[in-house]
Parts: sequence; C-alpha cells; structure tokens
Amino acid sequence: MSTKNTEIDLTDSFELIPVSIHKTAKDGSTEAANIIATLIREKQKAGQACVLGLATGSTPKNLYAELVRKHREENLSFKNVITFNLDEYYPMAPDSLASYHRFMHEQLFDHVDIKPENIHIPDGTVSKDNIKAYCESYESGVQEAGGIDLQILGIGTNGHIGFNEPGSGINSKTRLVALDNSTRIANAYDFPNMSEVPRLALTMGIGAIMKSRSVILMAWGQHKAPIIRKAVEGHSTEQVPASLLQQHDNCLFLLDEQAAQELTRYKSPWLTGECEWSPRMIRKAVTTMALDLGKPILMLTDNDYNDHGLSDLLVQFGSAYDINLMVFNGIKNTITGWPGGKPGVEIPGHPERAKPEHKRVIIFSPHPDDDIISMGGTFIRLHEQGHDVHVGYQTSGNIAVSDEFVTRFIDFVVGFDEIFGIDKSHATQLMQEARKFLESKKSSDVDASDIRAIKGLIRRCEAKATCRYVGIKEENIHFMNLPFYETGKIEKAPPGEEDVQITMDLIRKIKPHQIYAAGDLADPHGTHKVCLEIVFEALARLKKEPFMKDCWLWLYRGAWQEFEVYEIEMAVPMSPDQVRQKRNGIFIHQSQKDAVPFQGSDAREFWQRAEERNARTAELFDKLGLPKYAALEAFARYYY
Ligand code: F6R
Repeated sequence: MSTKNTEIDLTDSFELIPVSIHKTAKDGSTEAANIIATLIREKQKAGQACVLGLATGSTPKNLYAELVRKHREENLSFKNVITFNLDEYYPMAPDSLASYHRFMHEQLFDHVDIKPENIHIPDGTVSKDNIKAYCESYESGVQEAGGIDLQILGIGTNGHIGFNEPGSGINSKTRLVALDNSTRIANAYDFPNMSEVPRLALTMGIGAIMKSRSVILMAWGQHKAPIIRKAVEGHSTEQVPASLLQQHDNCLFLLDEQAAQELTRYKSPWLTGECEWSPRMIRKAVTTMALDLGKPILMLTDNDYNDHGLSDLLVQFGSAYDINLMVFNGIKNTITGWPGGKPGVEIPGHPERAKPEHKRVIIFSPHPDDDIISMGGTFIRLHEQGHDVHVGYQTSGNIAVSDEFVTRFIDFVVGFDEIFGIDKSHATQLMQEARKFLESKKSSDVDASDIRAIKGLIRRCEAKATCRYVGIKEENIHFMNLPFYETGKIEKAPPGEEDVQITMDLIRKIKPHQIYAAGDLADPHGTHKVCLEIVFEALARLKKEPFMKDCWLWLYRGAWQEFEVYEIEMAVPMSPDQVRQKRNGIFIHQSQKDAVPFQGSDAREFWQRAEERNARTAELFDKLGLPKYAALEAFARYYY
C-alpha cells in the first residue's frame, strides 16, 4: 500500500512533504480510515497480518470512530490486525481516566473484533528498574510482528511526534522521556489540574517511526497551523521532530483547512502560482503586506506591491493608490457601533440592515459565559439599542466547576439549616451525601449526577446574574442543556437528534432577525465546534420556513482564537469604559475565576484573554491606519 498521493502536485510549492488538505477534520479522518481499511483488506486477501502503529490524543478520535463504523456497517474485520501504540504516560495505571490504555479501548478496541493478544500499548506500570529492558522488548516486538506497515501520527504544537519532544534524534529508541512543559500544558485538559499531569512518558522513538513502511500524520485546527508550516516547509531538524519526516519516502500529511492555513499555498497563494483575486483574497494580501511592512494601508506603494509578489494586482487595478483605497474603505465599513443596524439610516456598505429597527436576536452561548466573554460589548449594545435580545445557553458547563467551589455551596445549604435551627431538610441530606461523595472522590471518578446538577445550577445562576447585569428579562434567558454535553467527562457524546430539535424549537419560537453563534473551531474540548454543528444543522432544516429569509447568522470567536483582519465583516468598537463594563460582567462568573478545572494550555483568566484579544484587534486596525479604539469585537457573517 502507498500513502503517496500521485495527484499532489509539488510544482511551485514550498512543501517538502506530500500534503492532502480537506475541508474538515472529519473528511480528512475518513480519508485516513479508507487508507487503513484498504490496507487491512489487501493484507487479509494475501493471508497476512496488518501491523498498525497508533496514536492517541484528540486528533485520531474521528478516525477511530470511522473505523468502528466501517467494522459495524461494512464488515471491516480487525482479526488480522496487530497494533502498537506510540506512547503512554508514566507512571500511569491502565484504568485511570487519562490513561492511553483506557483511551484506546474506549475509542477503538472495545468496538471491533481485534484479538486482545494483538494489542500492544506501552505499560505505564513497569518499575523504573525494568524500563530499559521493557522498552527494548517493546521495540523487538514490533520487529517480530514484521515491522509497522502504517504508522498513524498526530503532532504536538511544539512539533513532537509520539512523545519525542524537540531535540529527539532521528535514530532515537523507545524510551522513558520527560515531557516538555508545553506538552504538559497542552494535555492538561485530560486532568483535573496541572499538578496531576505526569512529567514522564514512555514513547516509541523516532527511529522506530522512520522504519515504518508508511506514515500518515494528521493535524486539525488552527492551533496546529504554525507547526505544520515548520514541519512541511522548514528545514528538517531535530528541533521540530515532525520535520524529520521529510526524510521518510512514504509519508503523507492529512490536514484540515485550518491546520493548512499557514502553508504558503494558503497564506500567500500569489507566491505559488496562479491565484484567484476575490475581494477577500485582495484584502488578505494587502493587509498581510501592510502588517509585514509596518505601514498603514494608504501608505503602500507600487514598489511594495512588486516586492511582495503582488504585481498581478497592479496589472488588474492600475495602481497601489486605487487598491489601497478599495481595501481601506472596505475595512472601514466593517466598523460599526450599531451591530443591529442603524435605525432610520440605510448606510451603504454597513454590515447590517437598518430595518426592522427593533430586531429579535438570539445569542447562542456554548458555555454559560461565552456570551459575555466573547461578545459582551456587542451584547450590551444590542440590548441598549432596543433590540429584543435572547440568550440560548447551549450546555450546562458543569464540568468546569471545581469540587472546592461546589463544596462552598454545599456548606452554605447545610449551614443554613444549622443557623436557623431548622430540622434537617431534604436539601441538607442531599448536600451531605454530595459532600461525602466529593470527600472520597478519586481522580478516576466521574461526578455523580447530583453533583453535576449542583455544578450546573451554579453556572446557571452566574449566567442569570450576568443577564440581569446587562438588563435582559428573565423570559429571554434560555437554558438549553443540550444532552450531548452531559457525560460528566471531557469526552462528550456525539451530537444527536434531540440537540438539533431543542435548537430548532428555540429558533422557531423567537423567529430571530439575527443569530450570533460561536464560530469557533479551535476549542480544544470540541464543545464549541459541536455546538456550532448543531446550529448549522438546525438552520439547514429550518431554512425553508418564511421567517428564515430575514435571519442573518453572525459568527463570533470564543476564548481561544480571533478572526484574521481580512475575515472580519463587522467590528464593534468599545471605549475604555465599555471594556471595564464587560470585564465586570465576566467577573460575575466566579466559578470560572482562578483555578478552573480542565482549563488547558492558556493560563490567563477568561477576562484577560477577552481583553487582550479585543485590544489586539483594535491595535491591528490602528496599524492599518484605521481609527484607534480601546477594543474591537469581531464578527463574520455566515451564509447558510
Ligand atoms: C499521542 C501522541 C502525541 C499526540 C500529539 C497531538 O499518542 O503520540 O504525539 O499525537 O500530542 O495531540 P492532540 O491530538 O491531542 O492534539
């Protein structure tokens, strides 16, 4: 079998590894699953074993789900499959919530007909004294099985493959390694807090990976884009372990569009050959050049365009002056203090319609605080400008409340009965049970449903308090409690019919003129992404209903990323006072302050992330020569 994609044309390309780019992670995962299924079947026909090297992490989840589907619906058998996993934390008990043993069984092995004796995962319980011998035997096990036919890899944002951190040699062996701090931070999502993330891991070495007959590395999401560029277009260096794959002669990188977006063919397609000059592409080229040069747009010269490979634009539009003006005015028109349209004035180029003057609006907030964190300034403006603003809180957000925080509330209820000398109420008994559960809770335990309910209630009260702060009426607050979220674990269930129905019901009830949704594809937990998919599905199904022709969908970005300047279609400014007002609204979410469980790689608090991000957008506009504001909230329209 070959992962070599003969259709990939590397002419004019800066790419040193074959790359296959897909619209979504799901599409890319389907391609990987098809390659694997073909290989398994070919080997079956030849009466041979198929040896797969497997990875864990968020990246291969869709791949494993698709393989399970193929097993169930297309009779793909795993009887001839032998697997070797790349790595495991050390020390790590196999039944621990965060272990890669558990991950592999839950995601794949428990659902297919692989023989248990054919599964190999590094053992996180071997004693330190035996590790060297254990690693040697793991590696010789691979050779005895005939060597790896196909190795599946993910990539760390520092370029690691397996747990081969920067500095790992091309011939490195299977061994115990110290995890990079950046890896520990990135993987913190699987652990209640940073201190529980292991410092060590067992990993197959790069030498073993290079010996595989073929390799597929998958990467999804914008946060992987910078390292993908380094691995694919940079020097082959131990500092970026994945770049060593440039020296493998049968390796394919499967990417989604977001992970590919820093590749030259996306970032500056005009440098790699013919380029279609849509208004958006022109805006992208001109803003990128202006920011690179540190010049406001209106100061760019014909020479700048020539030096940046943009002479095509001069040929098409005449002079830098004309292009500059066109791009500058386009961006200027995105700035508005009237996100619901300016009443009575239909301004040409304004991002929103003036009519109706009083719009019905739904803000979909994946967690109970995304509304205020990500678009608090706009939320407040919409309400103050007389629109009928509803908020749909899509999930309960219960896993992000710490045990310490919930205990404080439990103490309150129990103390209440004590202070007022009330006989033990039913609530107190319930709370005492809950406290007992928390006291004996182990890190591998999932919260009992009562605890989840109390944690959810805490977040609900915070969301209500924020709405009260903004001035939203009680009946405009909708807690949707989408069922896909309610697993009690980081790992969520796939979205289902009920999630879509709940969303459709709310849209049908409000008949909004504007919907705001988190268009966030880089949420590491995937909750934002799933919430968006549910909104898309609901809109696709409702599209033919008459009220929908007036319903515009605006996307905002959550706490993890921001739109690029050229992507922004509405930019809502905030004064320093409005920034403070938004900050106070975020502060209401006390359960999310300081130590939030499963917070992941960004140690800043949510209000800091929001402020820095909105200030940065304002700063970029300023650098481009547009008016200077304290902060800007950014939106892009989505045509469904
Ligand atoms: C896991 C592994 C790691 C991950 C990498 C990306 O078995 O080998 O190299 O592939 O850390 O992790 P995710 O997929 O969670 O972004």
